[in-house]
Amino acid sequence: MSETSSAADLLRRHAEHEYAGELDALARHDERPRPPGWRLSPQAVVTYLMGGTLADGSVVRPKYVGERRLMETAVATLCTDRALLLLGVPGTAKTWVAEHLAAAISGDSTLLVQGTAGTGEEALRYGWNYARLIAEGPSRAALVASPMLRAMERGAIARVEELTRMPADVQDTLITVLSEKSLPIPELGAEVQARRGFNVIATANNRDRGVNELSSALKRRFNVVVLPTPATAEQELEIVRRRVAELGEALAIPAEPPALEEIRRVVTVFRELREGRTEDGRTKLKQPTGTMSTAEAISVVGSGLALAAHFGDGRLRADEIAPSLIGAVVKDPVQDDVVWREYLETVVKERDGWRDLYRACRALG
Ligand SMILES: Nc1ncnc2c1ncn2[C@@H]1O[C@H](COP(=O)(O)OP(=O)(O)OP(=O)(O)O)[C@@H](O)[C@H]1O
Ligand SMILES: [Mg+2]
Repeated sequence: MSETSSAADLLRRHAEHEYAGELDALARHDERPRPPGWRLSPQAVVTYLMGGTLADGSVVRPKYVGERRLMETAVATLCTDRALLLLGVPGTAKTWVAEHLAAAISGDSTLLVQGTAGTGEEALRYGWNYARLIAEGPSRAALVASPMLRAMERGAIARVEELTRMPADVQDTLITVLSEKSLPIPELGAEVQARRGFNVIATANNRDRGVNELSSALKRRFNVVVLPTPATAEQELEIVRRRVAELGEALAIPAEPPALEEIRRVVTVFRELREGRTEDGRTKLKQPTGTMSTAEAISVVGSGLALAAHFGDGRLRADEIAPSLIGAVVKDPVQDDVVWREYLETVVKERDGWRDLYRACRALG
């Protein structure tokens, strides 16, 4: 697909295209040494992730909101011969950070292997174009390289999403890649050796633990960085506000930017139910079965905004928030319904200035 003719039509652009201007500016001002194969110095990569202002006044928007040290640790790991594993509960920006790291370091975030129970070895190694294989026998031209193999050849970052969902024997394919930095191709009597700049960023979900535990041999080859849920309500508010504004722009939703107060309520509900107690610590709450992740808070506000834009007057209010808020909390129709009703009657109803939200939720049954 040609990048220029259709870029404006794309629903979602890769980070290296969406933030190409920032990446160029960072590269121009980057006077620190770059590790072999890297587009930017480690410091500039961290600036790309955390945001900042460059010498010429151009602004780099923050991608990750949270501890700078976590990003420094992640970037420092990728300069070594150890791979990076981003671990955390759902919606803590593991995928988001992995994409931006690959974009900043290699200028390409697309060398991606998605881990599922059905992922086979060829997704990490190579497959064959069978028509050519039969016609010509095994040859380099008949070989279909995996994203991992292409990353090795190019000296780029490869991403593995949801590593622990892959069957254990498939995960173990990574051991040779990570320790030998080479991938043998016995059919051709050859091997591919990784160029400098190659490394792997994997993500895994805390909740999947025990599905397919990482083998200890593989664990030793990864540095683990745990991404936490946002530490404070202010931080979470900032994440949701920022992402909703960006998504609204990308989806061309013609609504007014949502009032901070409305977002604050959504974030408060999410944090209270996630932690199982009210913000003031006074009331213990039952917790829903779902994770109440920041990612979901973003989509609750986003859906509300779309409702307001297309079926309201463009302003986000309780009536627009209520439907998707209930949808986010009540995942299990029996258990979560009890949790939600209790929260609605004991917290939402009694809180100053929340009467409209109470009424809007009650109206939906
Ligand atoms: N600390 C944060 N800083 C910036 N954005 C965040 C943060 N936490 C969550 N987000 C936002 O949440 C959204 C979802 O994040 P992402 O999909 O990367 O989560 P994940 O950890 O990969 O979840 P899953 O385990 O479900 O795959 C992204 O749009 C991201 O911008
Ligand atoms: Mg993810």
